[in-house]
Amino acid sequence: MDVRDQSGVWRFREFLPFADDVEVVSLEEGNTPLYDAPRCADFCGVARLRLKHQGNNPTGSFKDTGMTVAVTQAKKLGVNEVVCASTGNTAASLAAYAARARLKCAIMVPAGQVSNAKLAQAIDYGAEVREIEGNFDDCMRAIRDLAEDGSAYLVNSINPFRIEGQKTVAFELAEQLEWRMPDHLVVPGGNLGNSSAFGKGVRELMAGRLIDRQPRITVVQAAGASPFARFYREHGSTLVNDEHPQTLASAIKIGAPVSWKKAWTAVRDSGGEVITVSEQEIADAKAMIGRDGIGCEPASATTVAGIRRMVSDGVMKNDESVVAVLTGHLLKDTDYVIKYHAQKLVAPDGTQITSL
Ligand code: F0G
Repeated sequence: MDVRDQSGVWRFREFLPFADDVEVVSLEEGNTPLYDAPRCADFCGVARLRLKHQGNNPTGSFKDTGMTVAVTQAKKLGVNEVVCASTGNTAASLAAYAARARLKCAIMVPAGQVSNAKLAQAIDYGAEVREIEGNFDDCMRAIRDLAEDGSAYLVNSINPFRIEGQKTVAFELAEQLEWRMPDHLVVPGGNLGNSSAFGKGVRELMAGRLIDRQPRITVVQAAGASPFARFYREHGSTLVNDEHPQTLASAIKIGAPVSWKKAWTAVRDSGGEVITVSEQEIADAKAMIGRDGIGCEPASATTVAGIRRMVSDGVMKNDESVVAVLTGHLLKDTDYVIKYHAQKLVAPDGTQITSL
């Protein structure tokens, strides 16, 4: 069988900017489940809630759908080294695809702020790990400087090939829903590549007349790391960074999102919103996703927390259809889980988080 037909990304290759004979670097990513989550639906106050679980990818996060395309492009260009800044998942994913492609890989992460599971993946796949004193945004700045002279190929989501791969998740979702998009599509927001990619995917589905209406794309941020939500609330003309982003959802502890303009196009053109949720709300939603037998990492649970918030604020109706995108696997951050259930989880501002 053609390896491309086994990949949930490359089976949509008519929508990808490559010639037919390109040598793809794939780990059979994509083809992720769309689960019904009845307990979460009750928790949120909607009749039905479905969860698209991108944590069921080869390295346990949605990053793989973009990375297969970006590393295929890197290989095609003949680069020696691929690099990224990361809160952990991009690093784990890039390290795996670089290993498959036999490319050198270096990742830059904020020291002491990445879960052991994610670091362990990157190390096991053979990446060089550079820890920076500072946060993700400092890593991002440093790696952009480093890649500027062209000696290393940067694969953060400012790289358009990442977005090309990630947009295919919208195609797969449409297919699972028999080409009828839900009223609402809810995604977590960090560096904002994922929401940008969903926007592009939906635009292409509409242009190809594969769907006849688009979902409202709503982005949910942790309140302590929410520059995009502030931009939305205040009708800003430009995004003002958060200098000191804070959240236990370490994957989205980001104050200077690089893809905010594309994400804004996705939200604005679809009639969606950008909202925030608290640390307690994220933790409770995450536990509820666990009770449905599904599980996810903290950043992903912002979506279910956000849906609950939208219902209680009256902006989402009980009978509207909604899909939340879970971005990372439960086992990505077990420390958080154990602490939450032992009543030992403390928010960055010192508040004790209580468990359900
Ligand atoms: N959820 C998870 C589990 C993530 O790892 C990330 C981002 C996001 C959500 C946010 O997605 O950045 O496209 O808005 N993680 C990046 C990383 C920053 O380095 O792994 P986004």
